[in-house]
Amino acid sequence: MDFLSALGTNDLRELENCLAQSISEDSFIKEICAPLIVGGKRLRPQLFFLCSGDAAPAKKIPLATALELIHTASLVHDDILDSAKKRRGVATINSAYGAQIAVLVGDYLFAKAFQLVAEGDYGSRVSEILSRLVKNLCVGEIMQDRALFAVPTLSEYYTRINLKTAFFLSTCCRLGAIVAERDDMEIENLAAYGENLGLAFQIVDDLLDFFGEENLTGKILGGDIKSGVITLPVIRALNQSGDAETLKKIIAQGNVSGADVQTAIKIISETDAAAYCRTRAEAHIDCAIMSLPDSAARFALEQIASFVINRKR
Ligand code: FPP
Ligand code: MG
Repeated sequence: MDFLSALGTNDLRELENCLAQSISEDSFIKEICAPLIVGGKRLRPQLFFLCSGDAAPAKKIPLATALELIHTASLVHDDILDSAKKRRGVATINSAYGAQIAVLVGDYLFAKAFQLVAEGDYGSRVSEILSRLVKNLCVGEIMQDRALFAVPTLSEYYTRINLKTAFFLSTCCRLGAIVAERDDMEIENLAAYGENLGLAFQIVDDLLDFFGEENLTGKILGGDIKSGVITLPVIRALNQSGDAETLKKIIAQGNVSGADVQTAIKIISETDAAAYCRTRAEAHIDCAIMSLPDSAARFALEQIASFVINRKR
């Protein structure tokens, strides 16, 4: 990730070591997980590190690693749900080894995360926040899964991306601030920054799913609509396009072909959907930056916000 080189290199080095160790207890787990672990942007640990400042490494590294492991576990399970073929530029675990192995690998990473948290002795407040995070991830995914090939309202879309993504980034900031023993006001402001950053992140993600470059996103274009996940670009295009009926039919048939994906991309790109999504994402980035308290990390957190809105991967 572009901003990484400028920030907290010691923390990041230790994070990479701890991640590598976390998958090294079993040679098969290591073989399967290494390519996936290597390709991550480390956005969640970065947010955690920036909000935790100069707290002791022993208080930072296990929890930062746990956050990245929970994220990776959720992606492994997400790829099963989406029947996704590529993640972070490599074959998904479900496509390379089958769904059974992928379920178990996701569970393993998830368990490893909670082992690190238990060993780090973070106490019940941190455990409660992490439990809420995972429950929200699951509820967001269940909501999405129960509404496949159905067009959500704007409010349903926002509820879903809040649970799936915004709450996660907010939690990374909150936990960092808690580990640094910041006051309640700072904790809430940093959490609000993370929440808005997360909303913008997911809106950009949903845009990249149609208009990104596969070699940069590491995913196959059109994956969302193919798996029935209807996102903001489609919601907007259905509202604006003269060809909305064709788009509606593609979604309603419940089986979206490669040609259908191309038609959907063409219909969406002929509307203002991309500009509309960007405007919304930018508004969340503005809110995120406005929430930032004055701190040594402010500049870096602004850089992350700028990365999120301009990212191509
Ligand atoms: C990616 O979103 C997926 C998520 C943000 C969350 C997935 C959560 C679960 C499967 C439940 C939790 C499971 C565990 C083990 C913690 P996306 O599909 O919008 O993005 P993508 O395009 O990168 O797939
Ligand atoms: Mg997905």
